[in-house]
Amino acid sequence: MSREDIIAYLGPDWDRVRDLIRSRLQTDVLLLGQTNDWILSNSGKMLRPLVALLVAKAIASPTEDSRCYAAAAELLHNATLIHDDVADESAERRGRPTLSALLGPGPAVLVGDFWLARAVDLVVRTDHRDRTIPILAKTLTDLAEGEMLQLEKAASGDTTEQDYLRIIHCKTASLFQSAAETAALSVDASPGQVEAAKAYGSALGAAFQIKDDILDYVGTDALGKPIGVDLKEQKITLPLLAALEGSPREAEIRQLVREIPEHPDHCGRILAFVAERNGVGLAARKLEEWVERAVRALDAFPDGEARRALVEIARFNQWREV
Ligand code: IPE
Ligand code: IPE
Ligand code: MG
Ligand code: MG
Repeated sequence: MSREDIIAYLGPDWDRVRDLIRSRLQTDVLLLGQTNDWILSNSGKMLRPLVALLVAKAIASPTEDSRCYAAAAELLHNATLIHDDVADESAERRGRPTLSALLGPGPAVLVGDFWLARAVDLVVRTDHRDRTIPILAKTLTDLAEGEMLQLEKAASGDTTEQDYLRIIHCKTASLFQSAAETAALSVDASPGQVEAAKAYGSALGAAFQIKDDILDYVGTDALGKPIGVDLKEQKITLPLLAALEGSPREAEIRQLVREIPEHPDHCGRILAFVAERNGVGLAARKLEEWVERAVRALDAFPDGEARRALVEIARFNQWREV
């Protein structure tokens, strides 16, 4: 099942999600409206709303709440990307200049706030809001904590695998998890199905960030964003962590990471170390484990086209180049 097949399968539910996103972003502030249109005209893969609608559909017939949670997940995702590009001082996103490069970091933060606020506005109007607002609040908390913990760990150079897993859960997996969980709640799923939806979302989200971190080492221009930047920003992600595991050079390499701001040339030596120890290959093996964990979580759903599409999305992530 290709992405196009999945979208055709979702039919009017998908169209409604797109309409909800567009209509929620309406504003009479010209600069903001033009900026929103610009972001919408360069949209990404829209994976989170796809996952949300498919989870709802795997359990029952999607409701208007399902479509609202799917739209809110995409609005929130874009807000996090806009804020992330400010935090990472990144110049390119989806093959275009970032908002912070175009408007400056201050206005970019405000645009991100607007998208975030519009996501909240959607969720607070839903029938299932009593259960879903706390989930949204938790994910918003996770997002901020994840990005701040990443900054803290970049400066200290002592990231452990446990720290890394917490960072990727907070900054990426939490949103996949809440998209899947709110979707399950939107169709009044059983407690077991809600747990399965959460487990799928969180494992897929971790796999998604691990793949993103691998692509930062080996990706191509097709990604539409700068590559090789994580190490320059002293982020110790899975390819380097896996290379460090059991290496007698661990203390030396971590010291090199700490010195990157004064000695950017250390990056070449660290990259050679990662290549020598097959860090990317080792990370790819761990990625596969997370993908399998996501697929196994789907056993709780009835077999059918929606479940097969969710399997497909997990496998697509393992091999994606964009
Ligand atoms: C990029 O997410 C940021 C991460 C969480 C790794 P996506 O790769 O889903 O971004 P778009 O929306 O498709 O551009
Ligand atoms: C994911 O981290 C960012 C968010 C979840 C907001 P990255 O910093 O690795 O994402 P990219 O590589 O800039 O897309
Ligand atoms: Mg970034
Ligand atoms: Mg990245």
